[in-house]
Amino acid sequence: MTTDHTGALAPRRPICDGDAGRRSGLGRLIDRHRARVAERRYLEECSQYAAAVRWEFRDACEALRVCQWIDTPTGMFVRTPLVKHVTVGPPVSFTVELMPGQRCADIAEHGARLAESLGGAGLRVEPLAGRFARVTLLDRDPLADGFTLPSISLDSAADFLLLGRDEAATTLGHAPGDAVHIAVQGMTRSGKSTACYGWLSSLAATPDVLVAGVDHTDLLLGRPWDGTVHRAWQSTGTTPDDIAEHAAHLDALVAVMRGRRDGMDRYSDKVGTGPGCPVILCVLEEYPQLLDLADAQAKQLGQRIRMAVKAMVAEGGKYGLRVLMLAQRFEATAVGGGYVRDQFGLRISFSVPTDSLVMLHGDDAREHAGTHAVADKGIALVSGPGRPLTRMRVPYLGGYREYVQRIETTGRAA
Ligand SMILES: Nc1ncnc2c1ncn2[C@@H]1O[C@H](COP(=O)(O)OP(=O)(O)OP(=O)(O)O)[C@@H](O)[C@H]1O
Ligand SMILES: [Mg+2]
Repeated sequence: MTTDHTGALAPRRPICDGDAGRRSGLGRLIDRHRARVAERRYLEECSQYAAAVRWEFRDACEALRVCQWIDTPTGMFVRTPLVKHVTVGPPVSFTVELMPGQRCADIAEHGARLAESLGGAGLRVEPLAGRFARVTLLDRDPLADGFTLPSISLDSAADFLLLGRDEAATTLGHAPGDAVHIAVQGMTRSGKSTACYGWLSSLAATPDVLVAGVDHTDLLLGRPWDGTVHRAWQSTGTTPDDIAEHAAHLDALVAVMRGRRDGMDRYSDKVGTGPGCPVILCVLEEYPQLLDLADAQAKQLGQRIRMAVKAMVAEGGKYGLRVLMLAQRFEATAVGGGYVRDQFGLRISFSVPTDSLVMLHGDDAREHAGTHAVADKGIALVSGPGRPLTRMRVPYLGGYREYVQRIETTGRAA
């Protein structure tokens, strides 16, 4: 007997070994049926969920008055933004058809409360084509995580300073060359100075910016800037002599500003800034406290400081001088009057009680009542030219050591 023509035996395929890819015809039929049933059940649940979202959203819109009342012969009819397609997600999102005359901002304004009704932590509303918008339900605060300030120095005052990131992770910037003064308020330990560590250190190397100002705390300005060109433009300290020196320093800045005005040719109504005529950023750290210290010494001294600052905020825009004022609260009497407060185009509020928020940002800020009073360090509300009130997280440079080191390594030498 020979085995030459005998082929190798092929292994017998099991009828059913638990592997779906190798099941018998009947097994595959059962599997397909089970999958179809599971899919149908899932789609039914999705459809029920979508109906619940539509219902809850409509209900919440009605309760929050994000609706229109239409008087018909059969009675009042309430119209709310119409929820169209719902994506179960995560994240849950849906398209809505806005009502006539309605904007995305009208829904976003009530975002926190609408999100609460839908079981989320926040709402993002983005415009789609025409009258349609996409609403995304956020399951956590998009600003919960901090981010580090990249080691960028601005090349010129026309570049954008990284102010922060909003809830949609969009970067918010501000060019120091823009004729806008900046107001920063926040309760103690809310992160005002730390935010300024990041912003100011990004300007230490900029050839057409001078970081000037007054800081009686001697932390934000002063020592960290030793050895740089900026230091001669700063005044620090809390002794009576220092306070008198601050008043003289601010008078000197006003004189520089007026000198620029007098040096302008007859065809200009504002100075052009550049390395030869840098933007002077006058930082006023804890300004209300500085006024208190000056008033306690002599009423005249306080008045002198008020007048200098008033001149700077009123005229600085034209002559290349910007004011960055920090205060725990922008009460008119505390910052030298409502006139001074009104001159700040860019307004940033770290954690503050609602009345302080409304004082600086107006009634639009009421929707953040309560929540912003307990906001994390580094989370701020910002409003500015052409920018509605927006929540943002400011970049974190690090502690004080990082601030001093960043200026040491990048600051323009004196
Ligand atoms: N974005 C942030 N991320 C992490 N920690 C922060 C942040 N901002 C501030 N901190 C921490 O919070 C503390 C207080 O911050 P900061 O000194 O900036 O507050 P402040 O508003 O200037 O307070 P004060 O009015 O008392 O001067 C600091 O010790 C700092 O380390
Ligand atoms: Mg501070």
